[in-house]
Amino acid sequence: MSVRKARWISRVARRAAYLLLAALVGCSSDRALSPEQRAEAEVLFESCLICHSTQEMQRGPIIDGLPVWYTRLQLQKFRSGVRGQNALNKSEQLMGAARDKFETDAEIELLARYIAERPVQPYDPVVRGDAVRGEILYTSCIPCHGARGEGNETLKSPPLNLQEDWYLLDQLRKFASGKRGYHSDDFEGIQMAYALAHIDAEGLKDLVAYMQGFQDKREQDADR
Ligand code: HEC
Ligand code: HEC
Repeated sequence: MSVRKARWISRVARRAAYLLLAALVGCSSDRALSPEQRAEAEVLFESCLICHSTQEMQRGPIIDGLPVWYTRLQLQKFRSGVRGQNALNKSEQLMGAARDKFETDAEIELLARYIAERPVQPYDPVVRGDAVRGEILYTSCIPCHGARGEGNETLKSPPLNLQEDWYLLDQLRKFASGKRGYHSDDFEGIQMAYALAHIDAEGLKDLVAYMQGFQDKREQDADR
């Protein structure tokens, strides 16, 4: 047997063992919200819709369908100021100003679970770049974000298959320029910023042009 094949088999076996373990342990945060919890979450989320819906021109990203663990982590960062307090990052500061809506862990949990239950919204691409070059550049992202942008909870790397393309580009630019992932306690953000060290401004657009295809791949995977 070739080394590559052996490695592949061990990877698949590890993944199967992990899934089995996750199914046996059962993650409480993955249970569906009860009608009472959903009603409570809707009230909390009302205040988020001012920025996280398509109604306003000056708006934040659409976050519907982000996984529970990622939203939880980001809201914790916004709450503690590890994200959202950088004076150079105006849009993050906007989000930082919403902190009083999720002061308790219970509120964060409820919001994260509610956001994960909201259906992902398809978007029309607006970013232009060279997707062929982007695919080559994306090879370096696969270990953390997955070949189809599906994300990796263990590595705290979010999926990249549901955010709008302009937001992906915006965040890449922020990581690359030290506006996100700069705080000494932002372990994940620092790792991410480091991953862009070898990529220039055109490369960021090319990456996003390639990542636009992830939303179709996500739909195909969901249909299987
Ligand atoms: C005043 C506008 C505003 C309000 C209100 C607001 N947000 Fe945000 N939010 C933003 C902006 C802008 C960003 C993008 C920040 C950036 O550029 O990094 C953001 C980012 C986020 C992110 C990170 C998304 C990612 O992919 O990393 C999450 C999660 C989030 N908001 C959740 C919420 C929740 C939950 C609420 C309500 C309790 C809320 N926001 C209220 C403007 C807002
Ligand atoms: C070492 C692992 C690692 C590598 C390699 C990596 N990332 Fe990340 N990435 C992360 C982590 C962890 C986060 C979450 C950071 C945080 O918590 O703020 C992230 C966040 C992001 C985000 C922000 C998503 C959002 O919703 O705000 C984008 C976009 C992104 N990565 C794209 C890429 C691209 C493109 C590459 C390849 C050039 C790449 N990443 C390489 C680990 C990685």
